[in-house]
Amino acid sequence: MSTPIDFNDRMLSLGLARVAEQAAISSADWIGRGDEKAADQAAVNAMREELNKLEISGVVVIGEGERDEAPMLYIGEEVGSGGPGVDIALDPLEGTTLTAKDMPNALTVIAMGPRGSMLHAPDVYMEKLAIGPGFAEGVVTLDMTPSERIAALAEAKGCRPQDITVCILERPRHEEMIAEVRSTGAGIRLITDGDVAGVMHCAEPHITGIDMYMGSGGAPEGVLAAAALKCMGGQIFGRLLFRNDDERGRATKAGITDFDKIYTRDEMVTADVIFAATGVTGGSLLPGIKREPGWVTTETLLMRSKTGSVRRMNYRNPHK
Ligand code: FBP
Repeated sequence: MSTPIDFNDRMLSLGLARVAEQAAISSADWIGRGDEKAADQAAVNAMREELNKLEISGVVVIGEGERDEAPMLYIGEEVGSGGPGVDIALDPLEGTTLTAKDMPNALTVIAMGPRGSMLHAPDVYMEKLAIGPGFAEGVVTLDMTPSERIAALAEAKGCRPQDITVCILERPRHEEMIAEVRSTGAGIRLITDGDVAGVMHCAEPHITGIDMYMGSGGAPEGVLAAAALKCMGGQIFGRLLFRNDDERGRATKAGITDFDKIYTRDEMVTADVIFAATGVTGGSLLPGIKREPGWVTTETLLMRSKTGSVRRMNYRNPHK
């Protein structure tokens, strides 16, 4: 009987950065071109090609959707040229609209861990709440109202509610939440898309000015954000939201039985993972792709939860 090969996160991390970089370079051709699908497809193609060069036996657990709706990088797709068994969560282009409109903070995102390390979240919405590192576990919870969360965080930080800034996706469904947050005196940074980046902002409040993320967005993005915070530090809570039986069916298919469960970061990502994100359009987290005649330069955040290491890597390569 052969012994399973270990997940060597240290060796695999540079390969993961290459995957994120190539997806970003390919999608960059579509920045500001108004074509979300083409931008996403370019990222998917490049990400898949690079993943298949890695010596892994990978399975996509968070991907572009179910096999019948996504021709590539679908949930369950096997990638890699053979090696340790790993689970992969990816969003080849997080912020397709941001890319199409040349707006800030579009990223390519990928996380990898040993088999069984990440929640198989169905493609439904998730209610999310995140804060940065340095607070007692559960200082804020999803069961609190938005104003209770702000009061609790302000107390824990030793500041006034007015000194807290919350990041929220600008959507009609969030109107009440936005009004309640504003009534506390806290500030809000509204984003039009890209809540993985939104959550990641909480991990570096001294740089980004964001203390807390709240609101609903994609559940797959919730797991990716949990992987990022597992590396950077910080708390995230998520509860799946179902609009109909079809969505409940997707959850059942993904093995979920408790539909009301609040997942903590370490329940969404149960083992040490590696995470890479490359900036496509420049933003407050990462600069975007830079082109000069004959060259392209990227910046990638490459992180390992085992060590808490966070690298910012520049990559420059000749380009047509
Ligand atoms: P895409 O890049 O796949 O378009 O997702 C962008 C995004 O803003 C996510 O970051 C977020 O979780 C989700 O869409 C929110 O969904 P909706 O646009 O339906 O509110």
